[in-house]
Amino acid sequence: MKKKSVILRIALIMIPGMLLSLSSCRHEAELLPIIPGTNDSICFDSQVLPIIQSNCAKSGCHDGSGEFPLTTYEQILRKVEPGKPNKSSLYKVMNTWQGAPNFMPPSPSQPLSNAQITNIQLWIMEGALHTTCNENDCDSVNVTFTTGVKPIIENNCIGCHSGASPEAGLLLTNYNEVKTAAINNALLDHIQETNWYSLMPPSGKLSVCDIAKINKWISDGLPNN
Ligand code: HEC
Repeated sequence: MKKKSVILRIALIMIPGMLLSLSSCRHEAELLPIIPGTNDSICFDSQVLPIIQSNCAKSGCHDGSGEFPLTTYEQILRKVEPGKPNKSSLYKVMNTWQGAPNFMPPSPSQPLSNAQITNIQLWIMEGALHTTCNENDCDSVNVTFTTGVKPIIENNCIGCHSGASPEAGLLLTNYNEVKTAAINNALLDHIQETNWYSLMPPSGKLSVCDIAKINKWISDGLPNN
């Protein structure tokens, strides 16, 4: 009788503990921390995620329905070994010889630019953390095409709007093409999702800061500066 109650008591102590540790494990896997970025580190949310979403998570490739979706931090992290770009398949496939069978993104998509590949490499070297950035230091007043608008388009749009068969037949790879899209293709309505235009990029709205910069450039008269 006494023995039984000791076993029972041990069980009563152990089982909730086991359940607790199981549930805390699962909790960690689901909710990875989001860390504020600093000026001298790569910001995952604005410098890595949009590049992956616009170049890899296209429909039929690594979007939500594919075998290896790459639409969220958690999904991207599965293809990364923090601190080791050369052991991270995400980085290796974009940093290999263009004729290699595993080269990504495959033709007719355009390869990523060296600057984009370097950002991804640095982000992995810095530990592949889920960093997000402070929008308070957004300068949407002094906007030029080269420093303000072009980087936004490169990171968020040209994965689909470049190459031999761009989406909607729309190229956004240089000043003239972006200017034409702003005048003729409702570019601003698409990024703001106004007047019933479909949202661009389709994976989710640009940041408030990026939209403000494009707005300013358009209201300045689309200067080529
Ligand atoms: C994942 C692929 C993808 C990305 C990334 C993307 N687009 Fe698109 N875009 C499309 C598709 C597909 C269409 C045609 C269907 C539609 O209008 O919804 C389109 C259509 C458009 C159109 C309308 C073209 C027309 O003549 O009607 C504009 C303007 C546009 N995109 C701008 C952008 C801008 C600006 C970005 C980046 C901020 C962007 N897109 C990012 C796939 C993409």
